[in-house]
Amino acid sequence: MNDNQNTFRLYDDLAWLWPLWGSPDDYADYCSHVVRLIREHAQIPVRSLLNIGCGGGKNDSSLKDQYQVTGLDLSSHMLALAKALNPRCGFQEGDMRTFSLGRTFDGVLMDDAISYMATQADLKAAFLAAYRHLNPGGIMVAGTDDTKETFVQNRTVSTPAAGKAKPANVEVVFIENDYDPDPTDDHYEGTMVYLIREDGRLRVETDRHILGLFTLDVRRETLTGVGFTIRQETYVEDGKEHVTFACLKPR
Ligand SMILES: C[S@@+](CC[C@H](N)C(=O)[O-])C[C@H]1O[C@@H](n2cnc3c(N)ncnc32)[C@H](O)[C@@H]1O
Repeated sequence: MNDNQNTFRLYDDLAWLWPLWGSPDDYADYCSHVVRLIREHAQIPVRSLLNIGCGGGKNDSSLKDQYQVTGLDLSSHMLALAKALNPRCGFQEGDMRTFSLGRTFDGVLMDDAISYMATQADLKAAFLAAYRHLNPGGIMVAGTDDTKETFVQNRTVSTPAAGKAKPANVEVVFIENDYDPDPTDDHYEGTMVYLIREDGRLRVETDRHILGLFTLDVRRETLTGVGFTIRQETYVEDGKEHVTFACLKPR
């Protein structure tokens, strides 16, 4: 494995594992938070929503009840999962830093895919692309995963596959380890180990993701620097607080 590269296998040859890692219902509470922020902060009626980094479409599964949802993602494998879960939503393949869809939306969600912005230049490019795709008076809800303030060195979590999508003959355990070899730079490494048993036979697969790690100040300054007016909010999941930003594109 090259030290400085994503292997991104979860979004490529191992994308079939994604539906086994939490069901869409697990995302419903977070989606209610997103809907509330849009309702409270938008200055226009929000009918269309662009979900940037939509992955396998678990958020779309709830959001489509409220909005006409278009999902954007880099991975054709994840888009295929999202489309199968949400046949009536639109999906586009693209890089969140550089995409151009030739249309604008009343709302934007930039959720956990934001973690893949591993430099300040990438973070800014993604926020700018989102800003360009938002109608004046519309809201972008931007999540944050870990920040420099909340990061825990060597945090290791294991999660067994569960839910309706899991075939009876398949068992998977997802093991995630977060490690920051150089706290002076803007990223850390997320190492995944997947224990996959099909009909009882074990295989062990590994995966490496390079993820951005910024202070909250950098997030705030980057959002306001591209033109957003921001309100900082908190979403609590399993007792852990996550900062989310409601980002208004002024009229
Ligand atoms: C954890 S998944 C998102 C899951 C999603 N929240 C859901 O509801 O299923 C992260 C996604 O970010 C996408 N991604 C990573 N880098 C990207 C980029 N530069 N542009 C667009 N999508 C990207 C990956 O392809 C992956 O599908």
